[in-house]
Amino acid sequence: MFNPYIKDFPALKQTVNGKRLIYLDNAATTQKPQTVIDALTAYYSRDNANPHRGAYALSVRATELYEAARETVREFIGAGSTREIVFTKSATESLNLLAYSYGMSTVQEGDEIVVSIAEHHSNLVPWQQVAAAKKAKLVYLYLDENGMIPEQEIETKISQKAKIVSVTHASNVLGGMSPMESIVKKAHEVGAVIIADLTQSIAHRKLDVAKLDLDFAVFSGHKMYAPMGIGVLYGKEKYLEQMTPFLYGGDMIEAVAEQSATFAPLPQKFEAGTQNVEAAVGLSAAIQYIQTIGFDQIQRIEKPLIQYALQRLSENPYLTLVGNPDPEDRTGVISFNVKEVHPHDVASILDADGICIRSGHHCAHPLMTYLGQTATARISLCFYNTEEDIDRLAESLKHVRRWLGLGSE
Ligand SMILES: Cc1ncc(COP(=O)(O)O)c(C=O)c1O
Repeated sequence: MFNPYIKDFPALKQTVNGKRLIYLDNAATTQKPQTVIDALTAYYSRDNANPHRGAYALSVRATELYEAARETVREFIGAGSTREIVFTKSATESLNLLAYSYGMSTVQEGDEIVVSIAEHHSNLVPWQQVAAAKKAKLVYLYLDENGMIPEQEIETKISQKAKIVSVTHASNVLGGMSPMESIVKKAHEVGAVIIADLTQSIAHRKLDVAKLDLDFAVFSGHKMYAPMGIGVLYGKEKYLEQMTPFLYGGDMIEAVAEQSATFAPLPQKFEAGTQNVEAAVGLSAAIQYIQTIGFDQIQRIEKPLIQYALQRLSENPYLTLVGNPDPEDRTGVISFNVKEVHPHDVASILDADGICIRSGHHCAHPLMTYLGQTATARISLCFYNTEEDIDRLAESLKHVRRWLGLGSE
């Protein structure tokens, strides 16, 4: 079926190993539309200067573009104020900021920090550091056989001892969506703050941080068609106000004396040093691009595609799906294994056919251990993928075992 959006992505027009490129690694990073590339070129061709510092025209323009990007993000996620939008370099940095600036000062001995077993290391290792430093306990929400967090886990694991609940909205391995409303409700009932890692859902669903009543949320630009090197931390103003800065230096101060300093108001307090202005401009362009298509349309394309992919993959008798088999309430992240073949071999063989997929532990060691897997192969779909991409994948997968001398297809 004709997909009108492929033409917007120059990288998708190439061939690899003589075959049309099929890009199925969108959970790792997405390709960039021409409008984002053009926004970067325009910025560097005309407006590049250090923002917030110069009194001259270019610096003023760079400042205006940077702050306009913040407003675009604010509106996109439904935050109440641009003071609640902090630019970081990635979701990872946003989570470290929260661990160090919020976690280290609020968590005390005997407290609990709740995460799910499906967390990416970036929403896990920082909390391990806080728990170890504060003699607190890291408590896990485990998954059911379909890779989903059961309500029972939420009810029993988020206790009065919980100070922070930090959970991914969508798994980067299994594709399942977390029941965020229930988690938020329970976290607030026990007086904990809720942090949502939106990194794998932000490009696929309309999200509203205020409606969801999230205390903090994080995501990376590069998984939503924007450049690498820009991430977002959303935080309710009342929490960000009380937090100490994470990084210190230029731009985040109000006044500096020989022995002390006072800090700039939000959000500059958390943006030390020269920021990635061009990537913020690119993020703004990416959001505008997403909004032009609209999440209804994105869902209209992605939902049947996910269903089609699950069906085509399940036709292969040597292939085992890992994760949620239900096409509803999941993203286009689909993990699988081919019998007797290491996922790295699967990925390499598909690469020879011009197909990009991921293989490995997906930065989720505890999840892999929990699932009894060492690694999986993973595809991740988005709205520029097509049924033809899936057909090419399914055909290629049929030959993987034969290539390795394992007999039949
Ligand atoms: C669910 C989730 N959270 C966080 C991250 C970290 O993102 P980044 O590497 O852009 O900081 C990833 C990256 O794959 C992810 O999938």
